[in-house]
Amino acid sequence: MFAHCYKRQGGWKDVLSRFVEGNGLLYDLEFLNDESGRRVAAFGFYAGFTGSAVGIDAWCHQQLNAGEKYPVITPYPNEDVLIAETKEKLAKIGKLPKIMVMGAMGRCGSGAVSYARKAGIPEENIIKWDMAETAKGGPFQEIMDVDIFVNCIYLSSQIPPFVTQQQIDAERQLSVIVDVSCDTTNPFNPIPIYNVNTTFDNALLDIPSTNAKPLQLCSIDHLPTMLPRESSNQFSEDLLPTLLQLPTHTSAPVWTRAKKLFNEKVESMATTD
Ligand SMILES: NC(=O)c1ccc[n+]([C@@H]2O[C@H](COP(=O)([O-])OP(=O)(O)OC[C@H]3O[C@@H](n4cnc5c(N)ncnc54)[C@H](O)[C@@H]3O)[C@@H](O)[C@H]2O)c1
Repeated sequence: MFAHCYKRQGGWKDVLSRFVEGNGLLYDLEFLNDESGRRVAAFGFYAGFTGSAVGIDAWCHQQLNAGEKYPVITPYPNEDVLIAETKEKLAKIGKLPKIMVMGAMGRCGSGAVSYARKAGIPEENIIKWDMAETAKGGPFQEIMDVDIFVNCIYLSSQIPPFVTQQQIDAERQLSVIVDVSCDTTNPFNPIPIYNVNTTFDNALLDIPSTNAKPLQLCSIDHLPTMLPRESSNQFSEDLLPTLLQLPTHTSAPVWTRAKKLFNEKVESMATTD
């Protein structure tokens, strides 16, 4: 399973303790890594892809139905249907948003960029940032200057925030944030202006601001289920070769590494808050 308890997320010790008390062992799918430390299977691409779709759609909704509640999201039969819907709305609006993808070189980030391109957003309107651009340390005015900000970073240590409440209260272009990374309860969340996950039924949070311009944020942590066909096929293809090694896991490095990591995390419960 994806237990989301190795990065000290809210309730991490409770989750881990249940494995210990039940004499179990967690092979966390997020931490099945090959010898170079790369994940063998991940949902990232389609998380970014659909996150970008929600971001663009939320922006369209703000232009076409200002003030109305954002509709419930339901899964799509395939990506072509989703792309066609976005294109139709963008055509109705007659202008194209500027979108910034943070962590653009990663799995989620490349998915987010791919969706923006497929929706017909021109390259100059797709701002791609990764480690090099954020090395100077946040917060970043550049995020305030786009319409849609899609955060796709893999957070591994404490970093200065990307955005602050002060910036949101000031003059800005930004009206939609999609936090694909969803480090919602992580103490180092680089978007420290919210602390709950949203859902397909209520996809957008209204972020309070002294600025009259709305700012809505999506923090759905199961975005790939919006395109179940493509995301399942991709994940299965990537995981299968490793899964077939499981019966002999005592000698399969992917599984032995995952077991070692579980034991380390269990041990760390005694010394970490
Ligand atoms: N919301 C969802 O449904 C969903 C689904 C899958 C994954 N995720 C999450 O998305 C996140 C990213 O996953 P991934 O598989 O794309 O990771 P990844 O490692 O493939 O990519 C992360 C990218 O972020 C960049 N990055 C890291 N720190 C940065 C910083 N400070 N500034 C700029 N760029 C930075 C890295 O260089 C890398 O290119 C993870 O937290 C994962 O849990 C969310």
